[in-house]
Amino acid sequence: MTQTDAIWQEIAAADRPTLTELFAAEPDRLSRFVVEEAGLHVDFSKTHLTAGTVEAFDRLLGIQGFEAAREALFSGAVVNPSEGRAAEHTAERGQGAPESVARARGFHGRMRALIDAIEAEALGPIRHVLHIGIGGSALGPDLLVDALGRDAGRYDVAIVSNVDGAALEAVFRRFDPSATLIAIASKTFTTSETLMNARSALAWMAENGVEDPYGQVVALTAAPDKAIEFGVDETRVLPFSETVGGRYSLWSSIGFPAALALGWDAFEELLEGAAAMDRHFRYAPLAANAPVLAAMVDYYYAIARGAETRAIFAYDERLKLLPFYLQQLEMESNGKQVTIEGTPVAVSAPITWGGIGTDAQHAVFQLLHQGTHLIPVEFIAVIEPGHVLDDGHHRALLTNCFAQGAALMAGRASDDPQRNYPGDRPSTTILLNELDPRSLGALIAFYEHRVFTGARMIGINPYDQFGVELGKQIARSIEQDGTGEFDPSTRALIARAFG
Ligand code: F6P
Repeated sequence: MTQTDAIWQEIAAADRPTLTELFAAEPDRLSRFVVEEAGLHVDFSKTHLTAGTVEAFDRLLGIQGFEAAREALFSGAVVNPSEGRAAEHTAERGQGAPESVARARGFHGRMRALIDAIEAEALGPIRHVLHIGIGGSALGPDLLVDALGRDAGRYDVAIVSNVDGAALEAVFRRFDPSATLIAIASKTFTTSETLMNARSALAWMAENGVEDPYGQVVALTAAPDKAIEFGVDETRVLPFSETVGGRYSLWSSIGFPAALALGWDAFEELLEGAAAMDRHFRYAPLAANAPVLAAMVDYYYAIARGAETRAIFAYDERLKLLPFYLQQLEMESNGKQVTIEGTPVAVSAPITWGGIGTDAQHAVFQLLHQGTHLIPVEFIAVIEPGHVLDDGHHRALLTNCFAQGAALMAGRASDDPQRNYPGDRPSTTILLNELDPRSLGALIAFYEHRVFTGARMIGINPYDQFGVELGKQIARSIEQDGTGEFDPSTRALIARAFG
């Protein structure tokens, strides 16, 4: 048995007091398991973490070379060995190798200059921004604009990812082509859905009287040559570094629609918030380190207690896209079956799912309270409301959020089995003072570092994504040769749909 297996066994075999017992036995539980950092109040006290499990995870991370790996991340060393790359998203917010930080600053400067030019109407009277990208090239900008941009009123931004033409058509119906800027976002500039959508958007412009559609296009990419080959003018190509992964790229030029819609100052504040979380992650002791404690919670339940999923509920309408964003960040990063060395892992990342409160209470919370699955829950709420309606709305929202965490933990015994709530169900609560660019930046960086720490615990590489390739290859071969070597079911589906 390896040393890490022995620690996992020790963690799994440890006593399992209930949450209520833990609170009774540990008067200092709140001070030990609440971290205040970068505008975030992160409360892990309603999870089953104990001083003992934290100490065991600390040893586990020591054996797994966590501290050296974290330094490698920040120093721009190769942390993605299967692709021979560094992962330098932190350099985008000034926390990385000096040359990488300087390069990111240069790219940001270029983005800012183009934004200034657009604001000065150098590309015409732009009012609408049609951002076309998918996965990491869409989910981050979409989250930022939706969370922070609702009242910005500067530009009407639509983010289109799906190759389903209905998505583009809905935007065509409401945008004026002559006042539309198309932002083509693709790290590789080879993603078929994005290129198809971009071509259709250009055709829509041409068909609707725009003389020079390419004059209203910008490209956001780590492959500038490919964007130029596609027809985008070099002056409107906003590059970012190859070492910034797709699902970690909203800090780079992929964040362009947010920087344009929210304004440059807001974008910089977002980066600063993330930088504050970077510093916390890099320097805080592990037992008081928010992303590290969060990863302990995730993998404690996934491995020691067999939880297959974890659920995130944002009690704030502005964060309704957060669960989708986190699904890619967590599952594309840590949904891997083998370690960096290629040996099997027992359990990969828990499945991330979720929704918004209070809606989810009336839809899925039944299962959380009385279902047979163990589902660690994460609540996210904001103290300052995002609207000017009567205070009662926000009070009701927060009250419901806190009530759910309390109910999951305490349960309520009843002689009637139908009405019995077992309780002892874990939750983490993240409370933001307000939802501004700075705190959102810190929140997203918190999740990035949590993913990194979890990957280190189970020894996998969070920065590649070979799992998505096979489906792409098969789609290409169906496209090229619908009668190829497919199974009978697939052949029948192709025949039924395409004749
Ligand atoms: O297919 C998965 C993926 O490569 C994601 O990792 C990425 O965010 C997305 O596709 C889009 O890729 P690109 O930015 O290169 O178009």
